[in-house]
Amino acid sequence: MSKIKARSGTFTDNMKLPVHRWFRYSAGYSAEWVQSEIKKFESEHDTKAVVLDPFLGSGTTAFAGASLGNRVYGFEGHPFVARIAKAKNQWILDELDFTEACNQVLNLAEKRNKQTERHDESNLLGKCYDIEALSKLDNLRFAYEKLADENPVWELVWLNITSILRACSKAGTAQWQYVLPNKSKAKVIDVKDAFLGKAKLMAQDMEYAKCANWSNSAQIFKQDVRGSIESPKCNLLITSPPYPNNYDYADATRLEMMFWGEISGWGDLKTAVRPTIMRSCSQHSAADKIVLDEILEEPLLAPILEELTPVVRELEKVRLGKGGKKTYHTMIAAYFLDLSKIWKNCRPVMDKGSEICFVIGDSAPYGVHVPAEKWLGELAVYHGFKSFSFEKLRDRNVKWKNRTHTVPLHEGRLWVKG
Ligand SMILES: C[S@@+](CC[C@H](N)C(=O)[O-])C[C@H]1O[C@@H](n2cnc3c(N)ncnc32)[C@H](O)[C@@H]1O
Repeated sequence: MSKIKARSGTFTDNMKLPVHRWFRYSAGYSAEWVQSEIKKFESEHDTKAVVLDPFLGSGTTAFAGASLGNRVYGFEGHPFVARIAKAKNQWILDELDFTEACNQVLNLAEKRNKQTERHDESNLLGKCYDIEALSKLDNLRFAYEKLADENPVWELVWLNITSILRACSKAGTAQWQYVLPNKSKAKVIDVKDAFLGKAKLMAQDMEYAKCANWSNSAQIFKQDVRGSIESPKCNLLITSPPYPNNYDYADATRLEMMFWGEISGWGDLKTAVRPTIMRSCSQHSAADKIVLDEILEEPLLAPILEELTPVVRELEKVRLGKGGKKTYHTMIAAYFLDLSKIWKNCRPVMDKGSEICFVIGDSAPYGVHVPAEKWLGELAVYHGFKSFSFEKLRDRNVKWKNRTHTVPLHEGRLWVKG
């Protein structure tokens, strides 16, 4: 078995790959693994794969499929992340037009050369940049906003500016994508160098993708898949949903959204992002808004209710001994309700003989085990898929000394046939 088949990889693997590397996001798997799954499906079924990704994120599945000429339908609920994926999908445009647009922005920004008026040490932007760096970024933003018109090439320029924000920040970043304003970074890239460097890399990748015959066959939609999924019939679904592990996807692009003036702080995520993504963190599942008893009465949870109920009741109890802080009991119940809705919406767009792969991990909030893959598989069967199995790829929570609980966890692929 080749190395790439033995694991699903991570987004770090994508940072070498054209187009994929334009924005770093926590993807869950690598593009090369997606390609290997598409090829395997096609040789086993002797048919072209039509691929669905209901949790598209930055588009790993979409661009892996496009590079092989497959039709891919991708849905992403986070509006800012969906815009990133849609902007990447403009790789097909002329790289010379893109380079010209970048040069225009840089010239105007340098001509303007104004000091920023929004440097404030008390907010995230002030903590991430000194006045000089934020002034340069604000001049780029001003120039972009002045010059951008309906031409989609401007979305690529927007992506260029968006994608350099972390590299130009003096604040450190965590293993995932959070900014750590109190940790400083050893290497900070100058704004102009970062912008020009990214413009060059993106133009090269655009040229490469065309030479390598990528097809313009990915369709990307900003949509909450709990509501509906409208696409032609697909026969392969490759995705990674949020895990029930309290990672806050709404917060993943807080710095970028603040920079562009879409939010003024964390509190605004509640209206700007949370309504269109599923509930997978406690910040999104406050006990005063979600009534546990009501959720547990939902018919969509019926197939897992017997096992889910003692787990969420235990979480409700443990919480009281922890100062009542984290609302994991409502978060876990809401998480599986949301995923049950999504399975229901996936069923009509997936062919009868289709293959589905969810890269997923279990979790243990407050040390109470949540067998995510088992419950997800049972929900899939409840909604009319044929069977499920789990392929474990790795153990988690086994080596860190400072772990908060000792429940062994794992991560792997939930395979559903349908
Ligand atoms: C693990 S990430 C997927 C990353 C992706 N594989 C990539 O290549 O970047 C899960 C994604 O699901 C999105 N999501 C969460 N709830 C959603 C919903 N209800 N509808 C659509 N997308 C949703 C999140 O915003 C997040 O981007």
